[in-house]
Amino acid sequence: MIKAAVTGACGQMGGLIIQNIVKAENLQLSAAFDIVNIGKDAGEVAHAGALKIPISDARNIKNVLIETDTNVLIDFTIADATVHNAPAAAGCGVNLIIGTTGLSPHQRAIIDDAILKNNVSAVISPNFSVGVNIFFNILKQTAKYLSDYDIEIIEAHHNKKKDAPSGTAMKAADVISKTLGDKEYVFGRHGTAPRNKEIGIHAVRGGDIVGDHTVLFAGDGERIEIKHQAHSRNMFAAGAVKAAEWVCGKQPGVYTMDDILGI
Ligand SMILES: NC(=O)c1ccc[n+]([C@@H]2O[C@H](COP(=O)([O-])OP(=O)(O)OC[C@H]3O[C@@H](n4cnc5c(N)ncnc54)[C@H](O)[C@@H]3O)[C@@H](O)[C@H]2O)c1
Repeated sequence: MIKAAVTGACGQMGGLIIQNIVKAENLQLSAAFDIVNIGKDAGEVAHAGALKIPISDARNIKNVLIETDTNVLIDFTIADATVHNAPAAAGCGVNLIIGTTGLSPHQRAIIDDAILKNNVSAVISPNFSVGVNIFFNILKQTAKYLSDYDIEIIEAHHNKKKDAPSGTAMKAADVISKTLGDKEYVFGRHGTAPRNKEIGIHAVRGGDIVGDHTVLFAGDGERIEIKHQAHSRNMFAAGAVKAAEWVCGKQPGVYTMDDILGI
């Protein structure tokens, strides 16, 4: 049985991840961390039924991970928390699944460094849905043929999302930029803003939109729009829990969803 811990256990994603761990055959919840609801039953907070696993203060993460003999930590929190919690877990020999978005390049370098130095395995992805990772691959193929078209990325999310643009929109831009050679990114436009050969990136926030991403390739006389729409957050959680099963026993290193999907 793989022992899995969750950081951000009281968040929207953390709750769904705990529900998916409870349903998984090969995983059991070993610990749950947050900065709120300390001491409460993690299963009850996650609406997964009582599990007799208390929510621990994230400041004690090292002690609790060692005491509970945890194999993998699933982290969906905020970048400033992940940059502390992920290296702490790696230092205890715990594998990692990181779904938190909005990590700066510096924060990402700190996390990658800790993973490699401590010889653990990790999957880091701004989006754990299967469909979005297929979408990234369609973008790669399309960009090869439409390199002279204007490219705009439009994403829409719920009004509680903290970072903008989304990690998925940034990954889509990076996939296209890598395919076409370095592209400049322009975030929104305001006032006099002539278009050059950049990738335009636009974030919409409202209501309870789970996550829409549209990539527009616009040429003279035609356009293609490639769109992914998430209907429920649960497929992100289910993908992260599957990744947790997959990563345990892999050679140390930093993996992506492409590795899991065999793309
Ligand atoms: N990769 C993906 O597939 C995917 C999908 C959805 C959301 N996300 C990302 O996951 C993250 C969380 O999203 P959410 O909607 O669950 O947010 P949320 O605000 O509902 O939950 C975040 C939780 O983290 C907790 N937290 C804050 N600081 C902490 C710390 N130091 N240690 C432990 N816990 C701490 C908060 O108290 C909260 O309970 C965001 O970055 C979001 O963009 C990723």
